[in-house]
Amino acid sequence: MQLTISSVLLSVLLASAVSAAPLEARKNKMQMNGNAGKAAAKSAVGAAYFITNEPEVGNFVVAAAIGSDGKLTLRQATSSGGLGSHGAPGTGPDPLFTQGAVKASAAGNIVATVNAGSNTLSVFNIDPQDPTNLEMIGKPVGSGGEFPVSLAINKAGNSICTVNGGAINGVACFSVDKTKGLIPIANTVRSLKLNQTTPATGPAGSVSHVIFSEDNKQLIASVKGVPPTPGIFAVWDIAADGSLSEDFKAVQPAKGGLLPFSMTVIPGKNSILATDAGLGVDIVDFSNGAAAGVAAGKSSGLAIDGQSATCWSSFSPKTGNFYVTDIGTSQITEINVDDNLKPSIVTQYAQGAGTATIDNDIATVGQNDIMYVLAANATQVKVLSLNAPGKATALQTLDIAGPAKAAGLTVNAANLQGMTSFIKK
Ligand SMILES: *[C@@H]1O[C@H](CO)[C@@H](O)[C@H](O)[C@H]1NC(C)=O
Ligand SMILES: *[C@@H]1O[C@H](CO)[C@@H](O)[C@H](O)[C@H]1NC(C)=O
Repeated sequence: MQLTISSVLLSVLLASAVSAAPLEARKNKMQMNGNAGKAAAKSAVGAAYFITNEPEVGNFVVAAAIGSDGKLTLRQATSSGGLGSHGAPGTGPDPLFTQGAVKASAAGNIVATVNAGSNTLSVFNIDPQDPTNLEMIGKPVGSGGEFPVSLAINKAGNSICTVNGGAINGVACFSVDKTKGLIPIANTVRSLKLNQTTPATGPAGSVSHVIFSEDNKQLIASVKGVPPTPGIFAVWDIAADGSLSEDFKAVQPAKGGLLPFSMTVIPGKNSILATDAGLGVDIVDFSNGAAAGVAAGKSSGLAIDGQSATCWSSFSPKTGNFYVTDIGTSQITEINVDDNLKPSIVTQYAQGAGTATIDNDIATVGQNDIMYVLAANATQVKVLSLNAPGKATALQTLDIAGPAKAAGLTVNAANLQGMTSFIKK
């Protein structure tokens, strides 16, 4: 007995003496996949990032190396210094009811994340040698409200705006200082005047996504409706000093639109394609409609037959088409928007019933576009090679749970959120 106790004590003492410093480091960064992960990071052409969004143990940004073939290798998780959260009353995947919870900018060489459970945002510098290696710049900063769920980065990569979806809701913007971190921009905390709770109650009536307009002169936040009342796109003008107009203009989706979710810019058109959980997609033409408070003439809705909740979207510069995901059907729908802003369905790609495909992003890797889809309920990332219009093929199914468990990283299907990518210049 005595022997057992003293050997236990000895091993405890030895363990703490040997690993005191590494333990501290491991708290903030966790490596996955050992030597294979290290090699993948070294030869990576870029990285894909999503967040664990854990309410108790804290939020981590998980980075997967992108190989020259577009495939992913999970490599490193970095603490965001904040907590995740889960909206109410549901307990399933898509905890924040949003797109854009984590966002990378190649222009700024940064990744930023929301910490919905601590009402903060964190920004990281991307290591140019190893894009899975992130270093926090400064400290997490207050988000200007409660339950921040989405963020947008401007074209120059030096300004970030967020949307808060809780009891104190609305937008707020920050400039990115490469040594100090996020600095609030004066006159950018603007309310959406929603009757909400912290954490938010949804998905109906919750905020969805925030983006800069294509010319970076407006900030747009989408808000889901509470059926039968349709939601809105809230539009603020951005002044030269970065401040926002006092009030937003509420632009409504065209007939049929109900639950505006993600927004993806339609290049060269001053318009967006928005997913709509109640319909399929909304096309919103801002060319002269925003000022009047209603969407302009070319706005329209497109029903996706059999859809359940179409909520996330990306654009592929190589195929010229949009790709939207549905959490309920786990289908990807490829959509073409023609020169007159008329949308049509090209084809659909099934990702496996019950996998709950949510956030996605598209990266150009060599001559091809690659799509990364968070299949949250399966704790996987589905990787598709887009190839040509209507010709996407499955490239890889990446397991998140196994490597995370081996590294001691807590992940839950119901808390995972976000997908963004970075390609080295
Ligand atoms: C806000 O919502 C709650 C819960 O639905 C409701 O009881 C309350 O009356 C609402 N407040 C306002 C000002 O509309
Ligand atoms: C997630 O998986 C569970 C168990 O397989 C299933 O019962 C549930 O319907 C799935 N949820 C979604 C949103 O697909």
